[in-house]
Amino acid sequence: MTKTVFHSAATLSRRTALATAALAALGLVGACNKKTDDKPADKPGDKPAAEAKPGGTIKLGLVASFSGPFADVGKQIENGMKAWMKEHGDTVAGKKIEVLRRDTTGPVPDVAKRLAQELVTRDKVDFLVGFGFTPEALAAAPVATEGKTPMVIMNAATSIITTKSPYVVRISLTLPQVSAPMGDWALKNGIKKVSTIVTDYGPGIDAETFFKKTFTAGGGTVIDSVRVPLNNPDFSAFMQRVKDAKPEAVFVFVPATEQCITFMKAFKERGLADAGIKIIATGDLVEDHQLQTIGEAALGVVSTHHYSIAHDSPENKAFLKAYLDANGAEAGAPNFMSVAAYDGMAAIYNVIEKLGGTMDADKALAILKGYKRTSPRGEIMIDPETRDIVQTIYVRRVEKVDGQYRNVEFENVGMLKDPGK
Ligand code: PHB
Repeated sequence: MTKTVFHSAATLSRRTALATAALAALGLVGACNKKTDDKPADKPGDKPAAEAKPGGTIKLGLVASFSGPFADVGKQIENGMKAWMKEHGDTVAGKKIEVLRRDTTGPVPDVAKRLAQELVTRDKVDFLVGFGFTPEALAAAPVATEGKTPMVIMNAATSIITTKSPYVVRISLTLPQVSAPMGDWALKNGIKKVSTIVTDYGPGIDAETFFKKTFTAGGGTVIDSVRVPLNNPDFSAFMQRVKDAKPEAVFVFVPATEQCITFMKAFKERGLADAGIKIIATGDLVEDHQLQTIGEAALGVVSTHHYSIAHDSPENKAFLKAYLDANGAEAGAPNFMSVAAYDGMAAIYNVIEKLGGTMDADKALAILKGYKRTSPRGEIMIDPETRDIVQTIYVRRVEKVDGQYRNVEFENVGMLKDPGK
């Protein structure tokens, strides 16, 4: 492993400012903020053929949250895209890649939809990309259909998303894919009585449903299921309920944001760790970026997920180097969203190359279906039927490695399709 020291997320805004300055120095920020507001507005579906796009550019409309409590989601995605562009340049098949970045301030589905509409009809983007949150991806999917624009999902992980438009391709994960294996792992490791605690929206409900499915099918009992609101959850209020139910373990999904830190803090402060209750989770709770701030309290947490920065492979080493080169040490550790964005860019560059720089949405989709690559996470494929990601899911444990907190992979369940379809 390349030894890279990542900074604590506690200095997020200062770090972001520093990272932005570093990126500006590298000439990467300007490209992402370029405005094309002088284009006339048309109706969705009005998009002219590729030859009508002047200037030899291919435009990617990046829609994600870049401000507010969930700003980190957009940042991880954008940083992953920048890592790819740092490594592979910003020109493909003679076309300059232009990223138009739009902030949903989200998750706010209406804003995501409006921004996607503007990007498609006014800015004439060739791809919609990003989408950290399920409600935003669901809101924008009809825009992709109407505007015949390929939409590459770089995080949003509720199973149903890819069914909402034939132009949606997902390169990230699905919650059923990472939750179902935990039910089996828990049983095999002697855990029989579990409470679940998940965020009360699409991905949390998928996580709860698919964990329960494998866990109860193998003879386990879910004694209580708690759902917490997405916005401003007061985890400590729910912790007492979990503690009183006396489970052997609690299965957790919270979105990979600063909520991971507040969850782990409440778990410790409310004495659940001292009561001997184990945490089993999807990797969102202990994602590599926030993990550096959670620190000690996360030691021993077992999770199932598709990517760890500790994954030992040449592709991951190259990714970590590119991420650092593109974003600076101030950006902190990348996480699974950054890797999905990096792989999403790989998939898009492959499409542009194969099409010789002349974009055609249906041909792009045909190339994306069945796309394969050796990602920093291992082998990945886009299932041609569902347009969803197929990948290896790993079981990992948080350990301290060379003084840093890492999700150390110790088992895997092989390549998995989305069990939700
Ligand atoms: C989602 O909204 O789909 C989502 C957000 C954050 C995650 C996973 C899924 O960590």
